[in-house]
Amino acid sequence: MEGWGRRFARTLKKGDVVALIGELGSGKTTLARSIAAAWGYKRGAISPTFALANEYQTKRGTIYHMDMYRLSDRELSAFPLEDYWGLGLCLIEWADRVRDRLPPSSFEVRLKIAGPQCRALTLLRPKRHRSA
Ligand SMILES: Nc1ncnc2c1ncn2[C@@H]1O[C@H](COP(=O)(O)OP(=O)(O)OP(=O)(O)O)[C@@H](O)[C@H]1O
Ligand SMILES: [Mg+2]
Repeated sequence: MEGWGRRFARTLKKGDVVALIGELGSGKTTLARSIAAAWGYKRGAISPTFALANEYQTKRGTIYHMDMYRLSDRELSAFPLEDYWGLGLCLIEWADRVRDRLPPSSFEVRLKIAGPQCRALTLLRPKRHRSA
């Protein structure tokens, strides 16, 4: 997971949105941590449980690491998600809760627990060349 995250991180740039979707413990935070580390964040990304968004300053730009899990429906609708687009790289755990608000250019990473030490990962790339 960490190796894949590092390679994926090299293809990402400021303004990209990555939806991290998968059951509890499937590796969303692990993946966000490896992406932040690959962008040069040394202190180690942690789960944004108590903050709405963790902010990591890196040499490649700012990363906003969010977790939509604990927010109520009311809090979710009040959360200014769209204000983050374009500010940096957005990594969003439990992004399925805000799926209809994600930009069409978002990457989607789907994670599944395949065994005690094994995770299955599917990357859906944005449909950049969609016809009107
Ligand atoms: N191949 C793997 N990839 C990622 N994590 C793994 C793997 N194997 C085991 N784990 C373990 O799974 C646990 C859960 O990881 P993590 O916190 O990243 O999940 P999460 O999807 O963010 O969970 P939550 O839904 O609670 O936010 C960690 O203890 C991690 O070490
Ligand atoms: Mg997590």
